[in-house]
Amino acid sequence: MLKPFTYRALPHHVVFGPGRITEARDIVHSFGCSNALVLSGPNQRAAAERLYRLLGERAVGIFSDAAMHTPVEVTEAALELCEELVADSVVSIGGGSTIGLGKAVALNTGMPHLAIPTTYAGSEVTSVLGQTRDGAKTTERRDEILPNAVIYDVELTLSLPPRLSAASGLNAMAHAVEALYAKDGNPIVSLMAEEGLRAFADALPRIVAAPHDLEGRTNAQYGAWLCGMALGATSMALHHKLCHVLGGAFDLPHAETHAIILPHALAFNVVAAPEAVARVARALDVEDAASGLYALAASLDVPLALKAIGMPADGIDQAASLAIKDPYWNPRPLDLDAIRGLLARAYEGSPPEG
Ligand SMILES: [Fe+2]
Repeated sequence: MLKPFTYRALPHHVVFGPGRITEARDIVHSFGCSNALVLSGPNQRAAAERLYRLLGERAVGIFSDAAMHTPVEVTEAALELCEELVADSVVSIGGGSTIGLGKAVALNTGMPHLAIPTTYAGSEVTSVLGQTRDGAKTTERRDEILPNAVIYDVELTLSLPPRLSAASGLNAMAHAVEALYAKDGNPIVSLMAEEGLRAFADALPRIVAAPHDLEGRTNAQYGAWLCGMALGATSMALHHKLCHVLGGAFDLPHAETHAIILPHALAFNVVAAPEAVARVARALDVEDAASGLYALAASLDVPLALKAIGMPADGIDQAASLAIKDPYWNPRPLDLDAIRGLLARAYEGSPPEG
């Protein structure tokens, strides 16, 4: 039976399809703007320059120093350039770091923001911004943070390396999985989450086999949008807590950590969230959701073990106590022994156990 729920849609304008980056200029125009600053990371400078040319007389410059975790010093440098160039809007092109910078600049200035993602992180459709000052991270959620428009142009994702695509996709799938059992989930978000999982489960093996497979890439981008919306609408639980603890304590790579933890976190929650688990299994077309996710990751040639991405063996106890100390809400309450066992399996890369 349906439980009572609250549903609140975030307003956003999405343009989806190959080649549609050419519509960026019209979107900036629709904002009533004529001086867009293009944002990117150092590795996407060439894509930023192409976008700058496409924007024509509506672009005033490029800032290509976006960095991981949105450091405030980088945001301040971008804000200075905005002032110097009299920018009236920002267009970000890249992964989560660049879109984070776009959100920070838009929040500081009130300028409209067009986001053009090139990975599957999903940040472009959430109103969440994480920033770092002197290494300390703060996260805020405000409606003004949500980009005003998004272009999903599949052609921009074709060159994303297959292993990175797989890790980024599994990271996005984690948002959908946690949305399915979130305390503030609802039936609409669950539809999106399940469809997002299905899209990625279809897309990722195809992309790893043939990185330029347009249909696989299109499904992955569709999945990224859906999983991003699921992330934007709900609060995350055990899986994210563990990943934040591991990332913070041992500086492990973000997407890979999420990819490794996901099957284990889901296995832990099987007893407490049977409906969510059944939907994950249905989306993946498997009997058992947790081992299905583990098998998917194994087939994609991503790391399966925390020890393979730099976690020290003596970190298991430390991470388990940190996760228990200040836990996020989770369908199954956390206990130290079970979490230690979960982390030990993830450390070794052994199959998930409930
Ligand atoms: Fe996440």
